[in-house]
Amino acid sequence: MEQKRGGFASSIGFIMAAVGSAVGLGNIWGFPFKMGANGGFTFLLVYLVLAVFCGFAIMVAELALGRSTGKGVIQAFGTLSGKYKWVGWLAMLSPFCLMSFYCTLGGYCAQYLVTNLSFLATSFDGSTGAELFALTLENQWSAVAATLIFLLVSFGIVKGGIAGGIEKFNKIGMPALFILLIVVIVRSLTLPGAMDGVSFMFSPGWSVANGYLEEAPSFFAVLATAGSQMFFSLSLAMGAMITYGSYLSKSENLGKNAVLIIIFDTIVALMAGLAVIPAAIATYGKSAELGGPSLLFVTLQDVFNSMGSTVGPLFGIVFYSLVIVAALSSSISLLEVLTTVIIDRQKTKGKPENRGKAALVMTIPLCITTFLVAFDGLGTIDTWQLIPSMGCWLNTFDFFAEGLLMPLGALSMSILFGWVVKPDFLVQENRAKGVAFKAAPFFVFSLKYLCPIIMLLVLLGQLNDFLGLGLY
Ligand code: TRP
Repeated sequence: MEQKRGGFASSIGFIMAAVGSAVGLGNIWGFPFKMGANGGFTFLLVYLVLAVFCGFAIMVAELALGRSTGKGVIQAFGTLSGKYKWVGWLAMLSPFCLMSFYCTLGGYCAQYLVTNLSFLATSFDGSTGAELFALTLENQWSAVAATLIFLLVSFGIVKGGIAGGIEKFNKIGMPALFILLIVVIVRSLTLPGAMDGVSFMFSPGWSVANGYLEEAPSFFAVLATAGSQMFFSLSLAMGAMITYGSYLSKSENLGKNAVLIIIFDTIVALMAGLAVIPAAIATYGKSAELGGPSLLFVTLQDVFNSMGSTVGPLFGIVFYSLVIVAALSSSISLLEVLTTVIIDRQKTKGKPENRGKAALVMTIPLCITTFLVAFDGLGTIDTWQLIPSMGCWLNTFDFFAEGLLMPLGALSMSILFGWVVKPDFLVQENRAKGVAFKAAPFFVFSLKYLCPIIMLLVLLGQLNDFLGLGLY
C-alpha cells in the first residue's frame, strides 16, 4: 500500500526551509569577501545577472523535478529514465562530501560559542583569535566531539520530519538569524573606521586602489567566481531543491518561490557582509583576513576581544549563535537529501517508511568522514590523506563537492533538461493546478543555452582554482 508522504505544512514554512538551506557559511565567509575582492558593486551585479539567467532556471527545474516525481534525487532522475540515475548520484555524493566538512565547521562555531560564554561568565583570558584558533585545531578530540554533536543535532531535526523538524526549526531559526544579524550590523557599522569596510565591499576598484589586493582580477575570473558562489549559495546542483520540492504542494507557484529564495539569500549575504567586513577592517585594517575560516575564527574573535570584557563576549555569543543557525539550517537540508534517498529505497523494497532509520543510515558513514575532517585540524596535524596535495581533509571533500560534483552535476542537469528529456514536462509541472508560468519561454531558453555555457565556465573556474591550473 502506498503511504502518504509527509510534506511542508505551509508556504512560508517551505520558503523558510529553502532560504535556510541557501543561507549558510557561504553567505558569511564567502560572499562578502569575494564581492570586495572582485569589483564590489560590479560583482553584485554580475552575481545577480548570473542568478537571473542561470540560477533561476536551475532552481525552478530542480523544484519541478522533485515535485513532479515526489522522489529524492536518485529516483527522481531514475523516473526520467534508468539511464540518468547517475546524475542523481552526482547530486547525492556532493551533499555527502559537503556535509562531511560542514559539521566540523559547525562544531568549531559551537566551541567558539562556549568560549565566549566562558569569557562572559568568568573573564577574558587574554588570548588572541589566532591563539584560540590554533588551540581549537590542536585539540582534536574536542573538535571531534563538537563535530559529532553538530551532526547529531542535525540528525535529530531531520528525524523529526519535514513539517515537524525541518520546517519548525527554520520557522524560528530564520527570523532569529535576521534579528541577530541586525544587532551585529549596528555594532559593526558604528565602529570608528567602519566605512572603509563598506567601501571595500561596495566600491568598484576600492580594494585594489587601497592595497587590499595586489591586482584586479580578470573579467573571466570575476565571472567564474560569481557563478560558483551563486550556485553554492543557492544550494543548487546538490539535490537540495529537488528534495524540498518533492515535499511541496501542487498549488505552490514554483517560479515565485524561486525568486523569493534568490532575493532572501542575496539580502542575507549582503547583511552578513555588513556585519563582518566593516568590523574586521575597522579593527584590523589591511591585515585583517576577510574570508574563510580565518575570518570567522581569528579576525572576528579578535574584533570581539577588542570590545571589552562584557560587551565583547556578548557580541561573540550573538554572532556565533547566528552562524550556528545558518550552518544548521544548511546541514539539515544536506542530510535530508541523503535521508530522502533512503526513504525512497525503503518504499521500493515494500517496507514501511522509517525516517529515523533512514537518517541514521546516512549519519553513520558521516560520523567517519566528519571525524577525518575534525581530526586533522584543517591540516595542522599530520594524518593520512586520500589526496595529499589537497593539504587537509576539508579541502579534499571541498574539491569533490564544490570543485567537481557540483559543476558537473549542474552541467549534466542542464544538458539533460534542455536537450535530452526536453523541458516540456517541467513547464507542465509549473502549471499544475492552473498556476500561471509566464516565464516559461525564458526558462526553456535559459536551460537550453545559457545554463550549459555558464556551467562550463564555472567548472573551468573551479578546476582552475582547486588545481591551480593558472588558466587566467
Ligand atoms: N548554500 C549553502 C551556503 O551558502 C551551502 C550549500 C551548498 C548547501 N549546497 C547545499 C546547503 C545544499 C544545503 C544543501 O553555505
